[in-house]
Amino acid sequence: MTATVSDPLLDLHALLAFYAEAGVDDALTDEPANRFMQAARQADTPRAATNAAAQPREPRRSLQPPAAQPSPPIQRSQATAVPDEQQAAMARQLAAEATSLEELHQRMVSFDGCNLKFTAKSLVFADGNPQASIMLVGEAPGRDEDIEGRPFVGRSGQLLDRMLAAIGVDRNSVYIANVIPWRPPGNRAPTPHETEICRPFIERQIELVAPKVLVHLGGASAKTLLNTTEGILRLRGNWRTYASASGATIPAMPTLHPAYLLRTPAHKRLAWRDFLEVKMKLRSLG
Ligand code: URA
Repeated sequence: MTATVSDPLLDLHALLAFYAEAGVDDALTDEPANRFMQAARQADTPRAATNAAAQPREPRRSLQPPAAQPSPPIQRSQATAVPDEQQAAMARQLAAEATSLEELHQRMVSFDGCNLKFTAKSLVFADGNPQASIMLVGEAPGRDEDIEGRPFVGRSGQLLDRMLAAIGVDRNSVYIANVIPWRPPGNRAPTPHETEICRPFIERQIELVAPKVLVHLGGASAKTLLNTTEGILRLRGNWRTYASASGATIPAMPTLHPAYLLRTPAHKRLAWRDFLEVKMKLRSLG
């Protein structure tokens, strides 16, 4: 029997490749780190004096505000990493007072009230055409989106692009955003509190885009924005009405999340039907 001598570097490389493939992309140290405290300390430090590398990176492209906007007339409390009602109230006020997408984006950039901001690399605001008839809303950015600063650019984004193409719609002609604009660490599900803090931003974004049709990609988006506890398999395929704070109503189609479809390809035909519904609705709305 011949023993094989393994190369430690090759082994290490293979192990890291295996981890990356399995979605393990957050390194842990031997000592536990209190991220809440770190974030609070970072938030307490004046921005100009902090290490730029420690600041969350901004999206590299798409829908960047053309210029800095004046600071909003709001009394900022101590930024905190622990979500609380005060942060949600501040998010509601900031969002409500934004008069354009650029202003909303800028306000989200300077908002420190969501702990997710401190572990994410980017604020993933949106992608696509702000004048679009169709607006799609997912749950939260994943690793690829966090790196690129754009929603739905990873594997599920590629499937989404193909689903749109299947109904003759180009990705650049729609507007895509997420309920949560910062990637939750390790792709964990956002907590209800984080969702409540981020909700005003996506609600205002929908109001400012004012699409003809809204598409909820997955249960989290549908449940949060349609205020329902029904599961996505029951919700999908049926038109709902999204009501904005200003009283406007938008036909809303909940459908299956592309990431779910990657795991359950047999359900792609259901999503295909939902997308056809969207296409027909747009035709009927003219
Ligand atoms: N999943 C989402 O819900 N949003 C993204 O942007 C990417 C994956």
